[in-house]
Amino acid sequence: MSIWAVIVAAGKGERFGSYKPLVKIGDKYMLEYSVETISKNSKIEGIVVVCLSNYIQTVRELLKKYDLVKYVVPGGKLRQDSVRKGLLKVPESVEFILVHDAARPFVSADIIERSIDAAIQNGSCVVCVGVNDTVKRVEDGFIKETLDRDSIFLAQTPQIFRRKELLEAFENAASKRLIFTDESSLMEFYGIRPFVVLGDKSNIKVTYPNDLELVKNFINSNVDFKNLSERVYEDEKIRRMQNYFIGIGEDIHPFDKERPLYLGGVLIPFEKGLKGHSDADVLLHALIDALLGAAGLDDIGTLFPDTDPKYHGISSLTLLQKVSTLVYARGFKIQNIDMIVFAEKPKISPFKHEIISVISNALNIDKIKVNLKGKTSEGLGFLGREEGILAKAVVLLKKEEN
Ligand code: CTP
Ligand code: MG
Repeated sequence: MSIWAVIVAAGKGERFGSYKPLVKIGDKYMLEYSVETISKNSKIEGIVVVCLSNYIQTVRELLKKYDLVKYVVPGGKLRQDSVRKGLLKVPESVEFILVHDAARPFVSADIIERSIDAAIQNGSCVVCVGVNDTVKRVEDGFIKETLDRDSIFLAQTPQIFRRKELLEAFENAASKRLIFTDESSLMEFYGIRPFVVLGDKSNIKVTYPNDLELVKNFINSNVDFKNLSERVYEDEKIRRMQNYFIGIGEDIHPFDKERPLYLGGVLIPFEKGLKGHSDADVLLHALIDALLGAAGLDDIGTLFPDTDPKYHGISSLTLLQKVSTLVYARGFKIQNIDMIVFAEKPKISPFKHEIISVISNALNIDKIKVNLKGKTSEGLGFLGREEGILAKAVVLLKKEEN
């Protein structure tokens, strides 16, 4: 009796917050747990792993130590598409296919063994668990009826079917664009009544980060689940709750008698300007770095290298607009900006309003969100010696919910 497994790992892990199969749990990645347990079953002859196309090489590398993994292939948009892509790789001579979700890393060797035996005996099998709570049918916010919980089961994976029947059902569903969330419902649609094998609750599906917390009670291992789940949970919390991102930027340019002085996109009447590859607008450079920093992007030098002739003499306002496009495209909104120009001379206050207005126009934000201060250094250091200008900026970005 030949049996292959198809392990699907091509979901995006949107609810978890990252690609689940490559989340590290103890000393292994989530995907390895089910691959290892399934590999150890003596009846399994081959495994196809279906993963997100961006991770194909990483997953191949990770799984090369498991001899039974014969193919690692990219998945599709829906789970059903991913399973189908995996099935298509299984050799025609194979009789049964065990489908398993990589999101259920803690499936036990016992469940694998029992489900294979049950499928060989009954022609199919779906691992299910019963429910302990009373089950209600709800309509329009009100309970309509209480269901007989003894006849209610929750379907997990593995689910095992004859290769030929399963593939036919998949092809048929694909041609009719029918969508099913598991193999069992697909096969039920085509009139098959899959055999139920009772699973256990340790075979949980990791959907949200704190699902890992539950698992620690069931798994007999040295893995520090508490730390792991807390960490992942914290990351998720930060991702969801931390809508605000702060950025800091700072820049210094030396004076250059031959050049005009630009500060905050405004041409300032002064006896000298600043030296630099672009228009040397020290204030906008600080602001650009603050924006990039808050958005988790690179810095001005990486984005607009001064070795690139196309930025020679470029207006920093143009660079600011390019950066704001990048920042806005990532779903950020500017909450506020605060800036300081340190210079003995010229005095900044006469130009403050014009600078604020130019910057707020360039960024398409209300002037009220932009603040600028001028400071001297009380005669100290390079600023006091009037060798150049220093500017600082902080920016607060708000991430809009998707
Ligand atoms: N899966 C897949 N291909 C898809 C969608 C899901 O292979 N297009 C796999 C997942 O990798 C997972 C299993 O199906 O092993 C169950 O899916 P789920 O738990 O929903 O995982 P994700 O789809 O990754 O998570 P989410 O829905 O939160 O994005
Ligand atoms: Mg999903």
